[in-house]
Amino acid sequence: MDQVIQVSYLLASVSFILGLKYLSSPETASRGMLLSQGGMFIAVVGTLLNHGVVSYGLIMSGVLIGAALGALMATKVKMTDMPQMVALLNGFGGLASALVGGAEFFRSQANLTAYPMVTISLTILIGMVTLTGSLIAFFKLQELMSGTPVVFPLQHGINALLFFSTLVMIGYLAFTPAATPVFWALVGVASLLGILVVIPIGGGDMPVVISLLNSYSGMAAAASGFILNNNVLIISGSLVGSAGIILSQLMCKAMNRSLTNVLFGGFGQVEAASAPSAPAPAGEAEAKPATPEPQPEVRSGTPQEAADFFKKAKTVIIVPGYGMAVAQAQHTVKDLAERLQKQGTEVRYAIHPVAGRMPGHMNVLLAEANVPYDLLIDMDEINDDFEDTDVSLVIGANDVVNPAADTDPKSPIYGMPILHVDRSKLVMVLKRSMKPGFAGIENELFFKPNTMMVFGDAKGTIEKMAEALK
Ligand code: TAP
Repeated sequence: MDQVIQVSYLLASVSFILGLKYLSSPETASRGMLLSQGGMFIAVVGTLLNHGVVSYGLIMSGVLIGAALGALMATKVKMTDMPQMVALLNGFGGLASALVGGAEFFRSQANLTAYPMVTISLTILIGMVTLTGSLIAFFKLQELMSGTPVVFPLQHGINALLFFSTLVMIGYLAFTPAATPVFWALVGVASLLGILVVIPIGGGDMPVVISLLNSYSGMAAAASGFILNNNVLIISGSLVGSAGIILSQLMCKAMNRSLTNVLFGGFGQVEAASAPSAPAPAGEAEAKPATPEPQPEVRSGTPQEAADFFKKAKTVIIVPGYGMAVAQAQHTVKDLAERLQKQGTEVRYAIHPVAGRMPGHMNVLLAEANVPYDLLIDMDEINDDFEDTDVSLVIGANDVVNPAADTDPKSPIYGMPILHVDRSKLVMVLKRSMKPGFAGIENELFFKPNTMMVFGDAKGTIEKMAEALK
């Protein structure tokens, strides 16, 4: 039987690796998900064959309750709320690993030697940090607590001290596993550390933190795999651990920020400090920028006027951003694109790697609306084409098209690669007001002579445009 179990673990591990590979392109992503799910199923069945299983009844009750809750959450969750759901699931992953560590500690406390005790302690440390850190990320994103960074004097010093104390406790437990109070102290300090590490991070930076916590949950699972001597846990945990770290780094690179800046920079403070108080009314020609310098007028137009430009356009690039997700405009965007294609206009979509609030956010939304994958073009591939484009249609994107990233060294987004929509003949920007986006900064694109603002909720605006194109 042991051989069957090991073969099932091998099959599961291969499925996870291939699944990850398929996930790297939107075209093959759903195949990747199916393969990984299949792998997980094989791993679960393989584990249930273990002769050490004490109660199938108890396991089945857990499976049924967990599956029902998971299915309910997955069907109810809104696409814009996906990051907090992932945060919650990461937290549960951390808790599961910590529980394995705790169970093993109390089961074999009398016989524990240094190596298994260190493994158990690491599982507790990483698992509890993941749990409480993920819960804070969830609370921030669900607006159950303020998304602004919570900072206080000596914060990083206190965190460093707490982390150092966990290492001392782990060292002590390695040689004195009987010290149950120290074990509980480790649980408590690790939980506190998770909270304190995440509260100084702004709500907007949570996707990077969630990806990092995802990586931690993988490491906790791998550590619990060492406790149980379970190969599939070690392999899948390591895959999650490394994929999470790589994704965090990719996100930071696309924002031109270091992981240190995200974790310790209190970036959301900028957002809170510089957001203008009141939006300009939709459709009004003048906006009142926060700076005292006189600003050129903002040119605004109606959806009907926008449609007149579309009638003449030969090439259009659609640039979706977070606002498209808020407006849930993806289906209407596709309808408009099809209308344009029918009149002979070439339409493509420019995808910025950090548009929206989670990795692949725009790809997921546009795939949901059945936009063909080959029309979704990555930033690096499409950036040179804006110069020859008649109309760039910016739908609820702001920071990812802000030229300040190129021109203003003092800007918090300076150095972040952007989509060069300002180089196209006409830029139409669809948003509700002159309010800034995630980075909390003004966008000079809105004041350029080749820019036309079309104020209003993106979905309604696009519907009116499509109607006018008929
Ligand atoms: P943002 O810069 O956040 O701008 C979104 C714009 O959408 C806002 O200016 C808002 O303007 C508009 N909007 C909101 N609701 C709308 C609606 N119903 N209809 C029309 N417009 C609407 O978005 P972006 O350009 O996608 O940039 C993403 C930002 O998030 C970047 O700064 C990035 O670094 C950051 N970030 C991304 C990620 C990932 S992984 N994607 C992770 C962390 C941080 P109004 O309020 O005036 O409508």
